[in-house]
Amino acid sequence: MMISPQEMSGDCSLALLQQLLIFAMILSFITIIVLLLLVHKVLRVRMPRIHTPLTLLYSFKWPSWARPPAAAWCSLLTMPPEPPGWIPVLGHLPLMGGLSYRSLAQVAKRHELSLITLWLGSVPTVVASTSQTAKLVLGNHDMAFASRPPSAMGTYLGFGNRSIATSPPSEYWRRMQKLCIRHLLSAQAIESFRDVRRISVQQILNFLSENRGHAVQLRDKLLDATLDVASTMIVSEPISELYPKAAQFIVHMLNLAGSSDVGHFVPWLAPFDFGSKRRELKRVGHCWSSMLQCFIDRRRQSAGLSSTSCSGQSQDLLAALICAEDLTDDMRNAIIADMLLGASETIVSTVEWAMAELLQHPDIMVILKDELGRIVGLGRLLAEDDLPQLKFLSAVVKETMRLHPVSPFLIPHESSEACEINGYSIPPKTRLFVNVWAIGRDEGIWESPHVFRPSRFL
Ligand code: HEM
Repeated sequence: MMISPQEMSGDCSLALLQQLLIFAMILSFITIIVLLLLVHKVLRVRMPRIHTPLTLLYSFKWPSWARPPAAAWCSLLTMPPEPPGWIPVLGHLPLMGGLSYRSLAQVAKRHELSLITLWLGSVPTVVASTSQTAKLVLGNHDMAFASRPPSAMGTYLGFGNRSIATSPPSEYWRRMQKLCIRHLLSAQAIESFRDVRRISVQQILNFLSENRGHAVQLRDKLLDATLDVASTMIVSEPISELYPKAAQFIVHMLNLAGSSDVGHFVPWLAPFDFGSKRRELKRVGHCWSSMLQCFIDRRRQSAGLSSTSCSGQSQDLLAALICAEDLTDDMRNAIIADMLLGASETIVSTVEWAMAELLQHPDIMVILKDELGRIVGLGRLLAEDDLPQLKFLSAVVKETMRLHPVSPFLIPHESSEACEINGYSIPPKTRLFVNVWAIGRDEGIWESPHVFRPSRFL
């Protein structure tokens, strides 16, 4: 087929026009982004983030659970002040890497801000950095902030937000809390497992004495021991007997869930699944579910669970969960997971920090040894009954928790309704971080806050 020169030049000019148009669009897009940055950084004007072209684009894909509601629009300008460091699309997300609780504590101190607004992608987030604001959000407005935001932890490891730590406040949530208190955390339940804990402590001491004079990896030993004690209290068998590598698996799982996933904050980036994190979380979540399901299946198969044992008072948490017939196995697994995860890394990390501080402060170690010598003596193992008298030991634990909180921002909360804190408006669906690391080091509350000094609690 022949093409005339006129047709050719017509096609060429159309293609040229198209290219010019695309070029102009890209140029204007870049100009808008640069202008926005200039306005934000140089003039320090606060503006609703949704004004950026890209956020407009992805706002159409925003899932209903995470969409800032219309009410948020009206109140955006009265939200608490923002720190510098906002960039288009990602917002303040780059600030959240590494030790973000330290950098945010510095920002709060430098600008004397007890409440800060951050934009994580386009998710509004408020950080409370003083004990006064923490009391307001977790005390006066506790119901408004009782929800949890959607998270990888809740979706993949919390069995679709059925765990106590990730489910929204509801009748189910309250009922599961009561069930755990009754069968695991009440004074009576704790007392009934005293021997399990004593034997476990004895085994750790044996391990330490066998390795006297050598460096030991205390963390691994502690993690195995706390997990076995917790699982014996929850499902009446040590988890390491069924899964010898349970501790390493749980650490891997918690690390995965703890690392941030940009797709949660910028939904149109979610399908890219950078670093295949979601795929790995799904895989790990599936293994976790099978591991926990095994406890339920074994108990069902064993002769130990009859209708009469369901009416008994002394059943363990697993039996109580199986006896509650209206629960699904996912719900049962979620509650067992809550208790196992809650009781592992938290305790190990606190003990590890306490040991590290004591080794760094030999003078404090001497005082502690002196107290143990006076109250327990060298002839026997410390018993739980001794604890109320060991005031200095208790002060060491409190001081460790003040300086090294296991969860520096707590588990993130989320507002379920609009509320006003310190004259600022907080819209619904705003994420809340309480910077307990900053509160523990507040110079207005603690004298020499950076010094490890347990005597401040005596
Ligand atoms: C040294 C010990 C522990 C520390 C430092 C610790 C710390 C915490 C923190 C900071 C939170 C978040 C609170 C919030 O976001 O408002 C939390 C929640 C939770 N912890 Fe612990 N914890 C410890 C031991 C345990 C144990 C032994 C269990 C279970 C047997 C447990 C189960 C839970 C549960 C279920 C939640 C979620 C509560 C809810 O959302 O209503 N924790 N813990």
